[in-house]
Amino acid sequence: MTRREFLFYSGFAAPLIAKQGGDSGAALLDPAKLRKFVDRLSIPPTVKIGEYRAHPHDPAKKIPYHRLRMRQVESKVHRDLPSTRFWGFESSSPGPTIEARSGEPLLVEWQNDLPQEHFLPIDHSLHGAGRDVPAVRTVIHLHGGRVPPESDGYPECWFQPGGSSLSFYPNSQDATMLWYHDHAMSITRLNIFAGLLGLYVIRDEFEDALNLPKGEFELPIILCDRSFQPDGQLCYPVSDDPQHLWIPEFFGEAILVNGKLFPYAEVQPRKYRLRVLNASNSRFYYLSFSNGQPLRQIGSDQGLLPKPVEVKTLTLAPAERADLIVDFGGYHGQNVVLNTDTFAVMQFRVGNSANSGASEIPPALRPVVKIPERQAVRTRRLTLTGPPDDDDPTAMAVPMLLNNSLWSDPVTENPTLDTVEIWELVNLTDDSHPIHLHLVRFQILDRRPFDMFLYFNERKVRYTAPAVPPDANEAGWKDTVRADPGVVTRIIVRFEGFAGRYVWHCHVLEHEDNEMMRPYDVVKPTHSQDQGVVRGVQADLIAD
Ligand code: C2O
Ligand code: CU
Ligand code: CU
Repeated sequence: MTRREFLFYSGFAAPLIAKQGGDSGAALLDPAKLRKFVDRLSIPPTVKIGEYRAHPHDPAKKIPYHRLRMRQVESKVHRDLPSTRFWGFESSSPGPTIEARSGEPLLVEWQNDLPQEHFLPIDHSLHGAGRDVPAVRTVIHLHGGRVPPESDGYPECWFQPGGSSLSFYPNSQDATMLWYHDHAMSITRLNIFAGLLGLYVIRDEFEDALNLPKGEFELPIILCDRSFQPDGQLCYPVSDDPQHLWIPEFFGEAILVNGKLFPYAEVQPRKYRLRVLNASNSRFYYLSFSNGQPLRQIGSDQGLLPKPVEVKTLTLAPAERADLIVDFGGYHGQNVVLNTDTFAVMQFRVGNSANSGASEIPPALRPVVKIPERQAVRTRRLTLTGPPDDDDPTAMAVPMLLNNSLWSDPVTENPTLDTVEIWELVNLTDDSHPIHLHLVRFQILDRRPFDMFLYFNERKVRYTAPAVPPDANEAGWKDTVRADPGVVTRIIVRFEGFAGRYVWHCHVLEHEDNEMMRPYDVVKPTHSQDQGVVRGVQADLIAD
């Protein structure tokens, strides 16, 4: 729990928990007063292939084409509440799930059919969110996708209602669960809060061969915390300062699971595969079961772990995913509640009989070959910094920064395509920040506490304790890493796939929208470098 979360839960955060947007003074809906477990868990629909279109680099080849329209939708989050306005895709939020196969590319046309006015409070003082740009603008990013730069959803490449953009997704990566979401400059927190997100599942033969629970026994679990007005409408708070509506973090009292509050799922006494996504703006989850039964984690952000890992409490930072196997066998007729901290998230009602067709948890999953540190051609030390004094209310609007740079400063991270780098994330703030790099997957090397005071005075890192290896459930391929306060988190990354402009950022959406995001360039090796590398890369691209 971050310090701000602590203050929030303990009720000391009155100045931080700002008044509601618009109708100030009105109370929020208290979800604790709602009847729990009266709505069935809903599963987002799966996108059906309707059309085929020419492959952008090989027009003789036809590949699936989908069009997903961003639209305002109404949906019931709870039996006893009126319907809520969301922004979703086609007729739902979360939007429909896109199913893809590794190595089989597809096209998605993202179309903005949203209203002209935003229904959440825009802070026009943030960079790129001025009154000179349309209030409603969106651009969709496939989080965790190895995607060419022009299809990646660069924050400044937004389009307004009536506009659309076509993304080419090569799917040349291992099976895992990605998610798509809005990434429009400085209003991402509002657009995702409004509901512009959905799942994107990549499957492959390796995973098929493992006999994991599938079909109705594989459940997506998308977690988003929200605040609601008593009439059931979404409420995103603003700060007390009329010049800067931006708030540094958002924590809602109500946790939506696939768009429902406190849903229940009827399950059989057998193994299930749960694919969990933390799609919250700022909240970290600490998930556990009411009956103390362990979770078995088989995969993280970028695919399967080398072997299953048993976890009692699963920590999930914003944008992280966990692939879990949960065995309800032995809990016949019982109700099991999934909790985070002390909040109930959802209920599983275990029935009395299971269909046959047992699935297993293989003792070995997918080998993860460690990238040797000596392959790194460069180590970058990158700071995470915040306002000088967290308790000073005037410091509230001061952004947190990466590498002491603003979004608009020149690019400083420019790795060469097909080289390996180590990035040392030096966290000088009080908060944990989930740091995400577009395009790539990476491995966590270690985390090591250092003396923050010495750093502030002398700009030197002096470690105060030995390095700690990543948790067992973080020891696979990742695309988002928790950088804890007062700790240097080291990751090792091979920059492969495509050259071009991407971004890296904190996935606390409030931070990302206010300068805690940087462009970075993957550059092609120059001719003086090994030509073989260049040719290898082009062959790779054509193989898509
Ligand atoms: Cu989840 Cu830059 O993205
Ligand atoms: Cu991303
Ligand atoms: Cu952050």
